[in-house]
Amino acid sequence: MSSLAARTSSPSVHGWVHDPLVLELRQRVAQRLALLAPDDDPASRAVRELLAAGGKRLRPLLVYLGGLAAGASISSLDSLAEAAELVHVASLLHDDLMDGAATRRGRPAAWRAIGPKAAVLGGDLAHVLALQRVRLVPDPALAHFLDGVAAMVRSQALEIDQQGGLEGGLPAWRSVAYGKTAALCGWCAEVGAIAAGQPGIGPELREFGQGLGLAFQAVDDLLDLVPGMDPGKPAFADLRARVPSLPIRMAAAADPALGRAIQALWRDGGEPSPALVAALRCRGGGSAEAYVQRELAVARRSLLRLPDSRHRALLDAMLDTLSLRAAACLAAPVPVLESQ
Ligand code: IPE
Ligand code: IPE
Ligand code: MG
Ligand code: MG
Repeated sequence: MSSLAARTSSPSVHGWVHDPLVLELRQRVAQRLALLAPDDDPASRAVRELLAAGGKRLRPLLVYLGGLAAGASISSLDSLAEAAELVHVASLLHDDLMDGAATRRGRPAAWRAIGPKAAVLGGDLAHVLALQRVRLVPDPALAHFLDGVAAMVRSQALEIDQQGGLEGGLPAWRSVAYGKTAALCGWCAEVGAIAAGQPGIGPELREFGQGLGLAFQAVDDLLDLVPGMDPGKPAFADLRARVPSLPIRMAAAADPALGRAIQALWRDGGEPSPALVAALRCRGGGSAEAYVQRELAVARRSLLRLPDSRHRALLDAMLDTLSLRAAACLAAPVPVLESQ
């Protein structure tokens, strides 16, 4: 194991992102991602600029920490970490165009900055660059990768079908969130173990990543109703794009009149009022947060079946951070209503 992997300072709930190993891995990822898509066509530019804009790098970190927990070397995980971020970036290039979202990672979204055609082709290019990096990984990691990317694309498409409606409740949300986010996170967590010849602990890591991914998507849905919590992208993007996010579905299930108000907004158009946003958060936020905690508990149970290690502790601290973020969404001030 390299000296980088052997660092021993202990992670904390608040501090895992400042952990020396995590900081070094993030720097390593940034340096490597900066070298991808160097060509001078608009598709390459779209990929390069989104990679340069940063982001949390959750997926490459899952690849590194999952692989290190299984005894892999850091250098054996580099291409796999790149592939994970490339697939994610592909999904974001397409997603912002689909959602009409103006900003991403604090910058104008690619479809606005470079153009919608470049955003589509940039997403395609990022998928192929990812495939080039995983083509030699042993099965079942390659099969899981291909299944995961297919699930992501199909789930994004399924979300189009769900737009503007609330049918299906939690199971409908969960199946889309699983494909959109959890499948890739599951692959990220397991792939290093398979590549390192430790497929025996792949299923635990995969289940951990999937639970984390579901919780992550649920927190992302909650953030949409809390302006300022994610400075990199606009609030109310789901609400405006008529996406039945988790808190919206939960609020409609708890209060059918609220469900009818949302449907009317989506049918007739117009801006969501502060009163509507406040009601959605009050009636749906608590159940969405409880859902996050349930998925985090599933993820934690899987993780604790792995041998104890510094890397397992960092993965565990990731779960704590998500838990706190979900709780912070509930605690954030609800917009004050003007008197009539
Ligand atoms: C956004 O992902 C899309 C979702 C799956 C919710 P991230 O929140 O990981 O985006 P970046 O990578 O930090 O920009
Ligand atoms: C992003 O989904 C695309 C995928 C997860 C495949 P969202 O639309 O839910 O994410 P944000 O909120 O725009 O980042
Ligand atoms: Mg979006
Ligand atoms: Mg979307």
